[in-house]
Amino acid sequence: MRLPPSLSAAAAALSLTLPATAFEYNTFDGPGFPSCHNVTLIHNATSPADVSSLVKSLLASTPTDSTTPLRIRAAGKGHMWYDTQCSDSATVLIRTENLARISEFELPPGAEQGTVWVEGGVTFFQLAAWLHEREASVGYTLTNWNISFGGSVAMGAHRSSLREDSMVAAGVVEVEVVDGRGDLRRVVRGDGTGEEWAAVSTSLGLLGVIVGMRLRVYPDTKVYARQATLDEKDVLNGDIYNLIAPYATANLWWWPYKRKFHQRYYDTVPAKSTTQEGFQNTFSVTELEAVAARTLLNSGKYLPTSNMLAEEIFFGQWEKPNFREKSTNKALESWPVYGWNYDVLIGGLYPDQKAEWEYGLAGYTLELAFPVTMANAMLKRVRQLFDAELKKGIVMTSTYRSGINIKFGKPYFDFLGQVTYNTSDGADWSKGAIMFDFPSFRPTVGDHKRFNEQFYHNVANTLIDEFPCRPHWTKNTREVFTRAVKNIDPDHLRRFKAVREQFDPQGIYRSVVGEILGLY
Ligand SMILES: Cc1cc2nc3c(=O)[nH]c(=O)nc-3n(C[C@H](O)[C@H](O)[C@H](O)COP(=O)(O)OP(=O)(O)OC[C@H]3O[C@@H](n4cnc5c(N)ncnc54)[C@H](O)[C@@H]3O)c2cc1C
Ligand SMILES: *[C@@H]1O[C@H](CO)[C@@H](O)[C@H](O)[C@H]1NC(C)=O
Ligand SMILES: *[C@@H]1O[C@H](CO)[C@@H](O)[C@H](O)[C@H]1NC(C)=O
Ligand SMILES: *[C@@H]1O[C@H](CO)[C@@H](O)[C@H](O)[C@H]1NC(C)=O
Ligand SMILES: *[C@@H]1O[C@H](CO)[C@@H](O)[C@H](O)[C@H]1NC(C)=O
Repeated sequence: MRLPPSLSAAAAALSLTLPATAFEYNTFDGPGFPSCHNVTLIHNATSPADVSSLVKSLLASTPTDSTTPLRIRAAGKGHMWYDTQCSDSATVLIRTENLARISEFELPPGAEQGTVWVEGGVTFFQLAAWLHEREASVGYTLTNWNISFGGSVAMGAHRSSLREDSMVAAGVVEVEVVDGRGDLRRVVRGDGTGEEWAAVSTSLGLLGVIVGMRLRVYPDTKVYARQATLDEKDVLNGDIYNLIAPYATANLWWWPYKRKFHQRYYDTVPAKSTTQEGFQNTFSVTELEAVAARTLLNSGKYLPTSNMLAEEIFFGQWEKPNFREKSTNKALESWPVYGWNYDVLIGGLYPDQKAEWEYGLAGYTLELAFPVTMANAMLKRVRQLFDAELKKGIVMTSTYRSGINIKFGKPYFDFLGQVTYNTSDGADWSKGAIMFDFPSFRPTVGDHKRFNEQFYHNVANTLIDEFPCRPHWTKNTREVFTRAVKNIDPDHLRRFKAVREQFDPQGIYRSVVGEILGLY
């Protein structure tokens, strides 16, 4: 076989030996935030065939009894939090940024839905712009903007809804993977026994590199965004299911020091009913805001009064729409806000601002999913943990600009997803899930530990031990995964492993997450 020149050079170099020096590969937060500790080579993939031939040449040049076994992982946009992308052995990364082609768009006029093919590195904002030009959107199976479809589907990423499918994989009907032999394989939803689909739909990247997929698309719509401010006690004692379920997408933000919640909800409106083109700012800030927030939150490492003030300020800012009118770039001051589906649901960065992490505002996070039937019990338990600190005279707050993020998910069956059901834990997952996503500021000073660091670990451990909760696969530490394994259905793990052994018999795509789950 003839390889393209750049690749044959890479293959030639590789077939000698992989470089002896390993380096760290970082998350979106940059240096100091490794997602892999032991990377020897990064390859920018140019096509699915290129991924396939690279894997084959790496396999050919690695003896099966080698003391340094072959390890390969895909790399998307690095939008993950911890050092859980790779295994700790020397790893080759295959970057998918240039697997960015979009094709085979089918949405006949008048049809309720259609499909489109995307390569694994296509991001949400790339596809949204492409589809908007063709009067289409992907609906509600979304995550944030600069994230790849391959990375989202691999890790079970999702938006927030009980009414509509909002897990990205739920909008996928076909997946193409380069497996552990370097072969291209297509897995089609509804084919065969369903075992392969149930594994590939949240594969954790362990079946191979996702190089393409077919997604459902819908006619583009306009949507509204509204927000209500609720007293904490009304949520903790209220009908949480019905705060969320009536809407296309909805979530809660919790301000534990203020004892308030914001309820954000969205749904469609007739396209001709409004000329407004609202655009949501998800993560951008001005430099002035960033420096002020960083200074205040850094002092909050030592002084709880700084954290209390920060929560007051963030809450006050979050009362108002984080939206601008796209055509004039002017702030929209009041609810509701209207605009095109993607602009309102996600949006992106304001043109004159940068993402907060580019100003050194980095975070820790923890995300766990619970049966929505346990929503009140879970939130009350967290409130007890906050109150237990208060009794010791320690005030804990949210140190994130949108508070504690509470999301929801409609049930969707697969082996390892956060919203799966039919599990042996005896919990009722059939009504859907509530996710507790607790981001917090990572001080840029000293040892980078948070004020009252132990509190965060205590929250995680208590929830994992007392509830049948499941981790988000890129928003938790190794410690959290290790503790949470007991909550993952053993039969799902066994069935996933059987598919993994078919796709990747040598385990070249293994990661620490796969190792912790006992899949090797
Ligand atoms: C600002 C921000 C907002 C976010 N919002 C949400 C959200 O709303 N909902 C949510 O659920 N998550 C959210 N996430 C998490 C995010 O969706 C996941 O971490 C996702 O996996 C990141 O995709 P990526 O393209 O950046 O991949 P990377 O971070 O590069 O990789 C993540 C993991 O996926 C694997 N992987 C990547 N591409 C592929 C591929 N093509 N084939 C096989 N494996 C692959 C990698 O090996 C790695 O293990 C957010 C993250 C950030 C930083
Ligand atoms: C791969 O792409 C990234 C980002 O575009 C670039 O920084 C890097 O140099 C490229 N690597 C190679 C080996 O071409
Ligand atoms: C998206 O991610 C890439 C890194 O893969 C980064 O270079 C680029 O600036 C990001 N874009 C935005 C708008 O954040
Ligand atoms: C990197 O991986 C190699 C084997 O693949 C191992 O010998 C080495 O100890 C690892 N290094 C680190 C820092 O983990
Ligand atoms: C869930 O379990 C029920 C009862 O055992 C079974 O009928 C159903 O097919 C299962 N659903 C899935 C998706 O496995």
